[in-house]
This record gives sequence, structure tokens and C-alpha cells, in this order.
Amino acid sequence: MRAMKNIVILISGRGSNMEAVVRAAQAEQWPARIAAVISNKADASGLAFAAGMGIATAVVPSNQFASRAEFDAALQQAIDVYSPDLVVLAGFMRILTAPFVAHYAGRMLNIHPSLLPAFPGLATHRQALEAGVAQHGATVHIVTAELDHGPVLAQAAVDVLPGDTEATLAARVLVQEHVLYPRAIRQFIDGQQGR
Ligand code: GRF
Repeated sequence: MRAMKNIVILISGRGSNMEAVVRAAQAEQWPARIAAVISNKADASGLAFAAGMGIATAVVPSNQFASRAEFDAALQQAIDVYSPDLVVLAGFMRILTAPFVAHYAGRMLNIHPSLLPAFPGLATHRQALEAGVAQHGATVHIVTAELDHGPVLAQAAVDVLPGDTEATLAARVLVQEHVLYPRAIRQFIDGQQGR
């Protein structure tokens, strides 16, 4: 067992969940380091935060590969430079191929902005409003081959309020995501320690 775990975080954009994880790891002195933040988009604004924290960053531009298989192979190579114990998807907006998912089986987590199994896929806040549910939220799950379907590790719920729009609901869920994801990752790492 290695004392310090290596975490690689994948983002596509803003990276506010990544930021919450980085800050929690530092504040709580996790037995883990954020070894790298990797984006499939060169203009992901989260990259600047990571670099500013002294974290290695890389871009594997998904729009410059002819196929999903070639992109995933390049991404896997970029990730494995850091010998990750855990790969954390944080707003990483890509459908992953089965071989890529298999390579990180049991050590790749995702956060999805709904109470899975409700509303997998995109536009979850709109889906929730259209369905008229009383509660909505976020789910942390282990990544498996089927999109947004892996074993659930943790969930956080919020009430849907009268007058909610996609934006107000998304903002209320995001506050919960920033608490939920670091906590779930921390628990997952602690559970790995015995291995
Ligand atoms: C979050 O709502 C996350 O659950 C979803 O995409 C959003 C990403 O936000 N997958 P950020 O990039 O972490 O700020």
C-alpha cells in the first residue's frame, strides 16, 4: 500500500467540483494528492485554477481525434503518467468507451446532477422541472460502461421550489455537489486504504 494516493481529475469546463475537491484535500490533509487535472478542452477555465494551485495540467483535445477509441487511448496514456489510484470525473462531458472504463474499473468516480436513477444524460435540471418532481439533487457513483448507471456511493437532495428555473435549480444543486463530492471521494479513499 502506498501511503499517498494519486488522484487524477478530468474536467471539460468551469471545474467548480474539481476546485471543491482540491480545496477539501488540502484543508483536510487527505492521504492523497491531486496529481493532475486533465481537460478535453483547451479553454476549460478550471485549468487556470489547477495550475495556480501548483497542480500539473494537461489537455487532450477531443476535437482533434478521428474516433472515440483514439481519443480514449490518448487520454488513458495522459492519465496513466500519474499512476492514479483514483480517476475523478468532474464535469467531464464525454461518453467513454468500454475499454477505457474497464481499464479504470472500480477506481473511477463521477458526479451526476440528478438523483439517479432519475434523469441520466444531459439537461437534468430541465428534466426534473418538466417531470414536476418535489426533490432533485446529485449523485456520486462508480463509473461503469453504461452512462450514469454505476453503483451509487452518495446522494444529496434539494427541494424543488415554486418558481424554480433551470438556473436557480442548478445553482442550488451545485452547492450540494461541492459538499457531496469531496466527502464521497474522501470516504472512497479511506475505504481503499486497507488494500
Ligand atoms: C456539474 O453540475 C456536474 O455534476 C455536471 O456538470 C457540472 C459541472 O460543473 N456533470 P463544474 O465544471 O464542476 O463547475
